[in-house]
Amino acid sequence: MPIQQTLSIIKPDAVKQNVIGEILTRFEKNGLSIVAGKYLFLTKEQAEKFYDIHRERPFFTDLVDFMISGPVFVSVLEGEDAVLKNREIMGATDPKEAADGTIRKDFAKSIDANAVHGSDSHENAIKEIMFFFREDEIISKLEL
Ligand code: CMP
Repeated sequence: MPIQQTLSIIKPDAVKQNVIGEILTRFEKNGLSIVAGKYLFLTKEQAEKFYDIHRERPFFTDLVDFMISGPVFVSVLEGEDAVLKNREIMGATDPKEAADGTIRKDFAKSIDANAVHGSDSHENAIKEIMFFFREDEIISKLEL
């Protein structure tokens, strides 16, 4: 299995529930390392650009409004097969379909307020990581 990096966003609903630490712990307990992280308030322009791929979808405006409704915690996760592993730990996009023990099952209230975002492919992970982080802000475990 290759060592990969992937982008995680802890969304405003989870930040409001005060579970940043609990969510990060789940990543660590499942073999992923947090190799970069920051707490920030997205601007409308940033949220629209980040989710540009969904611009034509009916939920785009609600998605952007939600993502700027409060601060988020963005991080880079690193580990074996990190993209897929993160998606397994998060659970299905719609919490009604999320498996027991996943982040979305435990913390998400709806498909909009679904606690976390994670990159869906290695290619998108690279793009999404570069959207939020400079190279010198990421300290890979492989370099230590
Ligand atoms: P996320 O992984 O951040 O990617 C896009 C987000 O759009 C998704 O999580 C959901 O929070 C939100 N969303 C709202 N409605 C839908 C939908 N019908 N299908 C996919 N994503 C949706």
